[in-house]
Amino acid sequence: MGVNIALDGPSGAGKSTIAKMLSEKMGYIYVNTGELYRAVALYMLRGEVDIQNDEAVAQKLPEIKISIEFVDGFQHVMLCGEDVTSLLRTPEVSMCASTVSAVPAVREFLLSMQRDLAKRYDTVMDGRDIGTVVLPNCDVKIFLTASAEERAMRRFKELQAAGDSSTYEQVLEDINQRDYNDSHRDIAPLKKADDAVEVDTTQYDLQQSVQMISDVIEKKLAERKEQEKKTSRRELIDLDDIKPVTNPKKIGFIKLFFYGIVRWIIFIIYKIKFDIVYEGLENLPKTGSHIIASNHRSYRDPVFAAMRIRVPCSFMAKEELFKGNIFFKWLITFLGAFPVVRGSGDTSVIKESVKRLEMGRNLVIYPEGTRSKDGKLGRGKTGVALIAALAQVPVIPLAISFKGEKLKFRQKVIISYGKPISPEELRLESANIRDMKSVKDKIMGSIASMVDSNVNKL
Ligand code: DC
Repeated sequence: MGVNIALDGPSGAGKSTIAKMLSEKMGYIYVNTGELYRAVALYMLRGEVDIQNDEAVAQKLPEIKISIEFVDGFQHVMLCGEDVTSLLRTPEVSMCASTVSAVPAVREFLLSMQRDLAKRYDTVMDGRDIGTVVLPNCDVKIFLTASAEERAMRRFKELQAAGDSSTYEQVLEDINQRDYNDSHRDIAPLKKADDAVEVDTTQYDLQQSVQMISDVIEKKLAERKEQEKKTSRRELIDLDDIKPVTNPKKIGFIKLFFYGIVRWIIFIIYKIKFDIVYEGLENLPKTGSHIIASNHRSYRDPVFAAMRIRVPCSFMAKEELFKGNIFFKWLITFLGAFPVVRGSGDTSVIKESVKRLEMGRNLVIYPEGTRSKDGKLGRGKTGVALIAALAQVPVIPLAISFKGEKLKFRQKVIISYGKPISPEELRLESANIRDMKSVKDKIMGSIASMVDSNVNKL
């Protein structure tokens, strides 16, 4: 994942001009997501599609090929091979873009493209839902606003300069209409993310606005760096007293028996609900004290990972899950979950993980940290390597693959267990950060090759 800055806000707030200047200043790529919606709109207008009819719009989408190219740092939008960049800013396309952007299939169509760019590049990405939906975990979120009148005046001047004959009143009416459409649609409406910094540029000129935003970004990135430093420092201290797992306990027969019953009931339910295909079952751990490092696709992943493994597994789960319903808390604790505070670099989590391995349990870890909605594998954090290094136990890579974001009834799910990676193979003698990274890359590489090969089998 690159460093990503989300710049959201209503039409005409100056996002594109400011984002362009910021990206130049920072050496990032500027991604104007509005132009992607505009390209879809242009396609629909050219094809005289009834844009009020969601179905008709959705049916056209498979015909559309959109890509972007960067020429001298400027984004050019290619629509089915044609550079349409100069055709995207007419009032007609603007209004149509606002309408088609409310069609769920259109948003879905453009989502993976935007996330893919964010994974590959450092970006300043402008839009409406970047901080809330497209990149909810990005590094900095700015919400840019200005009064409707001021925005209309800026757009009016732009259009005049381009030879357009629209009046100020028409532009203002368009802006108000688009504001209403963009913030009242059901899906991904224009909304400030809770953790976004709001910047109102009504009173400021361009230079002042850019300066204000640069200051916010600089401060946020510095805070983030400091936090990361603290985290890695904390990972390295206080860990001396963690010993390798040399003599794990055996889980008692009675416990295994009852766990086995629950496991088989769940297995049968899942067998009915989904079309599950297993691969690499010969790699399943027959005893405890193994780390299972898995990609993270859905909240069902712990079940997918554990239901064929005889010895109970433990899981890290976000601490919010332990705060709600008491029965749920009891259930997930019974099934082996323990809380982790995200982003805190808490060494007690590492200690608890090694303790669970010592207790003879297996440990399921999601190195990506967060769920991947589009199925693409994220970068992975080094925590998995640190735990493997300290515990010195084998790591079994696991890939869980299915199409789309949400699982449906009888959907095909491929669960692939990879060859165990032994502590010797991973050369886990030292626990310094550089070694951890290479160990983590080895584990992620193994998961990635299974995720990739599963794509063609779905
Ligand atoms: O930023 P813009 O005015 O070029 O965007 C054109 C339309 O696309 C706008 O009416 C809202 C929509 N849009 C969106 O819904 N989500 C985005 N991330 C970007 C734009």
